[in-house]
Amino acid sequence: MIPRSPRIEVFATEDRSAQILWRDLRCGELVLTPSHGPPLSMAIDPHLTTGGATLDGLPPGRSIDIVASGPAVPTPIVTRTRTMPPLPGEELARIGTISDLHLGAVNFGHRGTLREHPTPDTAHPRRCTDAALRATTRWGAEVVVAKGDLTNRGQIHEWREYADLVHAASVPIIGVPGNHDRAFRNGLAPEDAARAFGLTLASPLHVVDGAGYRLVLVDSTTGGHNHGRLDAVADDAVTAVAETEPGSVALVFLHHQLHRWPVREVWPVGVGRLESRRFMEAVARTGTRCMVSSGHTHRHRRWEHREVTATQVGSTKDYPGVWAGYVITDRAVRQVVHRVTEPDCLRWTEFTRRAAGGTWRWVAPGLLPSRCFDQIW
Ligand SMILES: [Fe+2]
Ligand SMILES: [Fe+2]
Repeated sequence: MIPRSPRIEVFATEDRSAQILWRDLRCGELVLTPSHGPPLSMAIDPHLTTGGATLDGLPPGRSIDIVASGPAVPTPIVTRTRTMPPLPGEELARIGTISDLHLGAVNFGHRGTLREHPTPDTAHPRRCTDAALRATTRWGAEVVVAKGDLTNRGQIHEWREYADLVHAASVPIIGVPGNHDRAFRNGLAPEDAARAFGLTLASPLHVVDGAGYRLVLVDSTTGGHNHGRLDAVADDAVTAVAETEPGSVALVFLHHQLHRWPVREVWPVGVGRLESRRFMEAVARTGTRCMVSSGHTHRHRRWEHREVTATQVGSTKDYPGVWAGYVITDRAVRQVVHRVTEPDCLRWTEFTRRAAGGTWRWVAPGLLPSRCFDQIW
């Protein structure tokens, strides 16, 4: 078999760091040498030629060439990226998010044909969520929001697993329900699960205030349906945004994506365009600095309405397998999306690139500016 060409890509950038992913390397040492900043070297395992690492100590706001060299690549590979400029204002807080955990799932893909072989002791949704929480808290998140589809079918043992990781976490985890948390017979409703297991879930609204921010968590589910609605809770959510302390930023988190266009981008269905536009307009009219982010699509997208940005952030457990972070200052918010790079997670998330007839590898990640960007007011 002809070996595939090694690939090096930049998945995430911040002002002083860049997350680098590689695949199809040879075993041996890999050296990543940025044109500005310290190099990083590591051994590539012959059984795991896909991996990732974060280059730290980079200068902010600069174009940087990263040279991959060493025995792991047949010839040096140069990748260019640009670090973000420093965020204006004083950093006040860091918030983390995870999404679409689907605890209890054992497969992925339109027909569910992608499975782990052999069956592991700990299934990929739990491994990926645990790894994402470790990375998010290492990054400095003081609270983590789980943006729905916490369980795959709302079953008691799935809620128990979610509760286990919530109670084991070193920071508070607050959830919003997703369609998968309500859609199945014999499932436990999120409200019942919250009572039974001592969870904090938006039902239909939950507000958290911290230094420099207000989190507005919204339940956008519609019983057993795939699509989302906002109208029933929109007025209260907009009021919560409007009552954000002056100078603070409001982050609205919900499960369903807000449709930007009259024609939706394939499955799954989010909140319809008219309802989404009404909500974005009402939020913009409050004058509060605000950003909205959802899950559900397992993809990365970004759009703006006036000064309000709406994003979709992918699933923690299938390609690319991510968590998101929000850096809050008194003048800006930065969204950064990082891949989970622990080897037993990457092995699975790389496998799921072949979903959707092989197109998932291009559909899910979106563009770097839709994942990592600054919103400055
Ligand atoms: Fe999902
Ligand atoms: Fe969903």
